[in-house]
Amino acid sequence: MENGQDEIYKPSAEFSSNAHVKSLDDYKKLYARSIEHPQAFWSEISSEFHWQKEWDTLSKYNYDLSRGSISIEWFIGGETNVCYNALDRQIEMGHGSRTAFHWVGNDEGETKDYTFSDMFNMVCQMANVLKDCGVKKGDPVAIYLPMVIQLPVAMLACARIGAIHSVIFGGFSSESLAGRILDSKCKASCVLGTAGMWQPDAVQVIVTADGVMRGPKMIKLIEIVREAFDMCKSDGHQLDHVLISQRLPEDQSPLGELKNLPHQYKLLKDLCDKASNTCPVEWMKSEDPLFMLYTSGSTGKPKGVLHTTAGYMIWSYTTFKYTFDYRPGDIFFCTADCGWITGHSYITYGPMLNGATQVLFEGIPTHPTNSRFWEICEQYKVTQFYTAPTAIRALMRFGDEPVQRCNLSSLKVLGSVGEPINSEAWKWYHTVVGSSKCPIVDTWWQTETGGHMITPLPGATPLKPGSATFPMFGVVPAVLDAEGREITETECEGYLAIKQPWPGQMRTVFGDHERFEKTYFELYDAENNLICNHFYITGDGCRRDKDGYYWLTGRVDDVINVSGHRIGTAEVESKLDEHVDCTEAAVVGYPHPVKGEGIYAYVILKEGVEPCDRIRQELKNKVRKEIGAFAQPDIIHWAPGLPKTRSGKIMRRILRKIAAGQTMVDDLGDVSTLADPSVVESLIASKADAA
Ligand code: PRX
Repeated sequence: MENGQDEIYKPSAEFSSNAHVKSLDDYKKLYARSIEHPQAFWSEISSEFHWQKEWDTLSKYNYDLSRGSISIEWFIGGETNVCYNALDRQIEMGHGSRTAFHWVGNDEGETKDYTFSDMFNMVCQMANVLKDCGVKKGDPVAIYLPMVIQLPVAMLACARIGAIHSVIFGGFSSESLAGRILDSKCKASCVLGTAGMWQPDAVQVIVTADGVMRGPKMIKLIEIVREAFDMCKSDGHQLDHVLISQRLPEDQSPLGELKNLPHQYKLLKDLCDKASNTCPVEWMKSEDPLFMLYTSGSTGKPKGVLHTTAGYMIWSYTTFKYTFDYRPGDIFFCTADCGWITGHSYITYGPMLNGATQVLFEGIPTHPTNSRFWEICEQYKVTQFYTAPTAIRALMRFGDEPVQRCNLSSLKVLGSVGEPINSEAWKWYHTVVGSSKCPIVDTWWQTETGGHMITPLPGATPLKPGSATFPMFGVVPAVLDAEGREITETECEGYLAIKQPWPGQMRTVFGDHERFEKTYFELYDAENNLICNHFYITGDGCRRDKDGYYWLTGRVDDVINVSGHRIGTAEVESKLDEHVDCTEAAVVGYPHPVKGEGIYAYVILKEGVEPCDRIRQELKNKVRKEIGAFAQPDIIHWAPGLPKTRSGKIMRRILRKIAAGQTMVDDLGDVSTLADPSVVESLIASKADAA
């Protein structure tokens, strides 16, 4: 990371003296306690929650595949409910009239505030609607909504009645939506069969909206849902209820155009208005599922990452409190969408479990002006602001003025998530947005980890721009070498793994425990030999410097991180391969000034097909339509061939280097194992036409 290594930014004495954790020494002591005395450490935190039945055993696990199946359990014997802790308990503590959300719409002036009591009423109503639809404990519920208040409400309503929500980001296509709905429906019996909850005749409900304005663009979500509905139907699965929240103005809503909607489609408001605003909670065992969230991997279809009740609750609560140094009275603004894990853990769950007041923003940072984020920070006196490096880099391009136009003196902590933050963006964020006084918490974590894993604590950690610094309480990282052995020297580089479970760890891949074990507990070398099977393998590479700071260096598998969103290369390739004119495609990431990584696709056309802009556009549109806009390739390179080993394996290392601009064969590393080394030169020569 350019230059960042040697510079150290310490929190101010004033900040530290008021923080939960006041010094690096304090952090070290707390961290040591979390590892050496986990029982005492987690008992203290768990006593801040309501337990319908106290847990008796802190954790039990098998983390070693050679000893049998991987299993992870926390807070065993306990019964609780996450929604109860996020709402009922807050109200019991006297926080009912506290604002839970300042909702800020896409267009300026469109705002509405919701207190914890308002949230309670809406959540209970929605929970009753779901129950009236026939949803029971253990049933999966799909949620496909923009950033309207109904989104966290629907999530909490599911949690209240023990339904498992599966939020699908509103930017996904109908095909991606249908794929996720079908996967959760078909696989439910495998996962929940053992828990004895899921019934084969479980109803299938989706909570959605007619549409949304994203900046100046209208997105008609209901049309996408309709396509997905038909896809599910032709696959033999009937969606029983499509509950629609009306977001667009009457005269612009596509609902009117969609005459004769099947009877399954109902307006959510009509149902909620009639529903009672109290609803008893379903008490959940600690390891009962809370939600699944689909995420891309290096192979095959996206997998449903499954999180369970108590561990996730305690992890999202604890990480939010410490990483952002949350205090009552603070105003937290996370710019992520609830369709991703960041919005789950740091909008719906972590902050609400802390009783925090938040901004819930529907829009985009550049609408109507490039000052939008900063205006919101000023208007609501935001104290902690949490966003992605891609947004920082995009906004940085407009210069300092759009930031300086606003009064950001309320800010105390700035957060970064989703991808490595380069030191130029870090420094701009620090000096221009944070007036050089706000610690930056560069939080490394994953959908699978449920919450922050490696992160600074703002009052305690001396920062190095570009480093996520040190592990969170209870997290024991290891750096593995190319043979899968743990490196014991402090200064090193290799694969990042985690040696023991933490409360917020995913428990399984929904309906496919074997895939969970293979993906996260098996590490292979280049010759495909199994080299490690007793640690959680993150899929990321990292460096540990002489001071023990962790520097995340990016994915080591075939996953691309575009603007903080994970996309498996195999998923994009399979869409390109399907095009009538395409013989074969290979997709890699390349450095992109704003997105972090862009998508670079090598496409071999069929014999006799001439490359042209029409096909290029068709290929890009195909991926956009069938996966989602964020997966659209930035560059298509008409490839004369692909560099393959004699056994037919594509050498992506070479493709990545060419995509990144290497033009000298000598700089591409060893090409002697290629079946046809001449393909490399022809690829370099044909790069000029890539666009
Ligand atoms: O490669 C790492 C990168 O994002 C991946 C996780 O993606 P996802 O599950 O979509 O979750 C994103 C939000 C947590 C990781 O494997 N990543 C995430 N945060 C950072 C990061 N890379 C470097 N620094 C970070 N702070």
